[in-house]
Amino acid sequence: MKKMVDNCGDLKNYWYAAALAKELKKKPIGRTVLEVLVVLWRTADGRAHAMRDRCPHRNALLSEGNVVNDNLMCPYHGWTFNTEGKCVKVPSEGDNANLRERHIDHYAVIEQDGLIWIWLGDLSLHETRQPFKMPFYSGDGWNSYYMKTRFQNNVTNLVENFMDVPHTVWVHKGWFRDKESLKVNAIVSRDEGAVTVKYDGDDQIGVTDLLMNPKRLPMVHHDRFFMPNNTSCDYIYGDYVTGFVITSTCTPMGPFETEVYTLISYKFGWLNHIGRWILPWYTRQVINQDVEIMANQGRSLQDMPADFKSTPADTLHLFIESLRQSAENSEHEKPRSVTKDIEFWI
Ligand code: FES
Ligand SMILES: [Fe+2]
Repeated sequence: MKKMVDNCGDLKNYWYAAALAKELKKKPIGRTVLEVLVVLWRTADGRAHAMRDRCPHRNALLSEGNVVNDNLMCPYHGWTFNTEGKCVKVPSEGDNANLRERHIDHYAVIEQDGLIWIWLGDLSLHETRQPFKMPFYSGDGWNSYYMKTRFQNNVTNLVENFMDVPHTVWVHKGWFRDKESLKVNAIVSRDEGAVTVKYDGDDQIGVTDLLMNPKRLPMVHHDRFFMPNNTSCDYIYGDYVTGFVITSTCTPMGPFETEVYTLISYKFGWLNHIGRWILPWYTRQVINQDVEIMANQGRSLQDMPADFKSTPADTLHLFIESLRQSAENSEHEKPRSVTKDIEFWI
């Protein structure tokens, strides 16, 4: 049975977030990445490990087993595996157990910026790329927290949604942006591995605007996409006097199921403590509105393949799609760099 990991070309050769670091304790947990079931656990030294969540004996899920002396023990008949996936014990065969040819594929893991990242691609390439660097603004007046959200749609449509301005006045009306008939000018550029949208002029973004910009400082708004599955939306006021940054990394679980890890970073100056109270609730409401509209689109796309008619505001989607498709087709020649001025109304 072919899985996404077998059909996604070079897209498999990236690090994908598999869990929040705080979710992973000694007890094993099961995750799905690119349709592969993986089990993750920590050894006593605190290091994270991952391997395929499937016992070679009768294929039980190891994620429902236990960790014994840093090794993973299957819940069904007690076969036990070390961190390299090597079988070290078959209880029913006693001391003369045949341990050969009973190993499990294990995967490279990195813990970085509060996330556990896993590499399911070509193991010989895993040192050529690093996990996406989340702007973990923990110092210098910045506070941050993670949100984890399950979406019923694919990565391309999700990263488009996270950077899409026109939907905000519909899906988030009254929550995020509610101006209508406002002309927006932006410059969209595609470089190797990234798409950037730089907005011109002033903007207001709901409750956060009151917290961030009581003095009406000039604001710079950038939205960025980084291959293959990361977005960052930055609202920076008065040269970093205050700011609000939403960074997301999307982990494809299946063709229409994606786990998104969102880091909300904010710097509100002396109002930071109010942000700590209000923001987790507020950002959860806004993301849930996107969960709903993404599930709506996902249902339609599962019925029939995409047949999109685009406007200038959708330029970023076309650029993102071209980069992801080129990686999916493992093309050597990458899409060329291009910059476009766009205007649209919200
Ligand atoms: S299925 Fe794992 S030990 Fe039997
Ligand atoms: Fe949205």
